[in-house]
Amino acid sequence: MSSMTETTTVATTAAGFLQQENDHAAHNYHPLEVVVERGEGAWVIDVTGRRYLDCLAAYSAVNFGHGHPALVAAAKAQLDRITLTSRAFHNDQLGPFVSALAELAGKDMVLPMNTGAEAVESGIKVARAWGYRVKGVPQNKATIIVADGNFHGRTTTIISFSNDEQARADFGPFTPGFVSVPYGDAAALEAAIDETTVAVLIEPIQGESGIVVPPAEYLPAVREITTRHNVLFIADEIQSGLGRTGATFQCDNAGVVPDLYLLGKALGGGIVPVSAVVGNKDILGVLRPGEHGSTFGGNPLAAAVGSAVVGLLATGEYQQRASELGERLQADLRRLIGFGVLAVRGAGLWAGIDIDPELASGREVCERLMERGVLTKDTHGSTIRLAPPIVVEADELDWAVKQLEAVLEDLRAEKA
Ligand SMILES: Cc1ncc(COP(=O)(O)O)c(C=O)c1O
Repeated sequence: MSSMTETTTVATTAAGFLQQENDHAAHNYHPLEVVVERGEGAWVIDVTGRRYLDCLAAYSAVNFGHGHPALVAAAKAQLDRITLTSRAFHNDQLGPFVSALAELAGKDMVLPMNTGAEAVESGIKVARAWGYRVKGVPQNKATIIVADGNFHGRTTTIISFSNDEQARADFGPFTPGFVSVPYGDAAALEAAIDETTVAVLIEPIQGESGIVVPPAEYLPAVREITTRHNVLFIADEIQSGLGRTGATFQCDNAGVVPDLYLLGKALGGGIVPVSAVVGNKDILGVLRPGEHGSTFGGNPLAAAVGSAVVGLLATGEYQQRASELGERLQADLRRLIGFGVLAVRGAGLWAGIDIDPELASGREVCERLMERGVLTKDTHGSTIRLAPPIVVEADELDWAVKQLEAVLEDLRAEKA
C-alpha cells in the first residue's frame, strides 16, 4: 500500500500544486512549471496572479479563447437542463448539433465521439467496414495508408502506425493493417495502393511533427488518386480544422473535399471533449446499431457546446480573423530567420518555428518565453509552435513575437 505523503494536504502555493502532481499524477507529461488558475480570452492567469498570453491554446482546443461568452452560456444553460442520457435514449441537443455540423462540413452525417483518438479509431473502423461491405475487400485484409511523421493520438491501434519510437517503445504488440509512406509524396502514396487498400488517412498539415505543410499539389493529388482507385480519403482535421488555418478546414485552403473529416479539439470549445467523424451516408451509413458507440459520445452537454461552436464558425468571422492575423504572424516570424530561427512554417494562426539547435533547445526557448509571459510548447527537440486563440489581438501577437525576438537575442548574447 502506498503511504500518504504530506502533499495529500490542501496545496495553496504553486510549489505545493507542482509537488502534488509530481507525487500523484502519472509522469506521462513534462509540463512547463506554471500553475494556471483562470483564463480570459487569449490569456491565462496563474495561482500567483501572473498573466500569460496562451500561445498553445491547448493544442488548438481553445481556438475561441478561454471562457468565450457564447460557449460558456451554452454550457451553463445545458448544465441546468440535462448533461447525460447515453445513446440508449434520444436527447433534444444531438439532432440540432449533428445537422449543423453536417451542414458546416457539406456532408450528410456525423458520428459523435469524445476525444480525437476516438474519432480516429472510429474513422478506421468505418473505413474497414466500408471496405468489406461496399468495396468488397476480403475479410480481415483491409489496409489503410498513412504518412510518415503522423500523429493521430495515443491508443494502441493509432501508435501501431506511428514512426515515433517514443510513442511506441514497450507498447507492442501492434495492430496490423497499416502502410506508411513519406508525407507530401503523392507518387509514393499511389504506389502503395493495392486491392486491399480501403483508405488513406492523413493530416492536411502535420501538427505534432512540427507544423509540416505539404507541397501545394499534394492534397489535390491525394484526392485525385484516392477517387481513381476507389479508396477513401480521410482527413484528420482534429488540430488543423475549425478555424485554426484561416478556413473551416485546411482541406478548404487546398481546394479539396475528403470523404471523411475527423474533428475534435476545438469542437468542444475548450469546455468538454467533443469529437466527430463527418461524411456522407454512403460511407458513414455502413455502421449498424450495436457495432460502435460511446457512453458519452453525443451527450447533451457536448452537443449543446458543439452546436454553439458550429454557430461561431458558421459566421466565418473566426476563419477570416485567423487568416488575416495569421499573415501578419507568419511575416513577423519570418523576419527572425537568420537570428536564431532556421525556418518558419505554417498556415493561419498556426506556426512551427525551428530554433537553431546550436543556440538552444525548443524547451529552453519555451521556458524563457514563459518567464516573459508567453506560454507555448516545443516539439521534436528544436521546434516551437505558436497557436494562440483566434480571439488574440494583433498587438498581443506583435508583443509575443517581440518576446521571442528578445529570447533569441539573449541567447545569442550569452553564446557570443
Ligand atoms: C491531428 C491529431 N489527431 C488526433 C489527435 C488526438 O486527439 P486527442 O488527444 O484528443 O485524443 C491529435 C492530438 O494532438 C492530433 O493533433
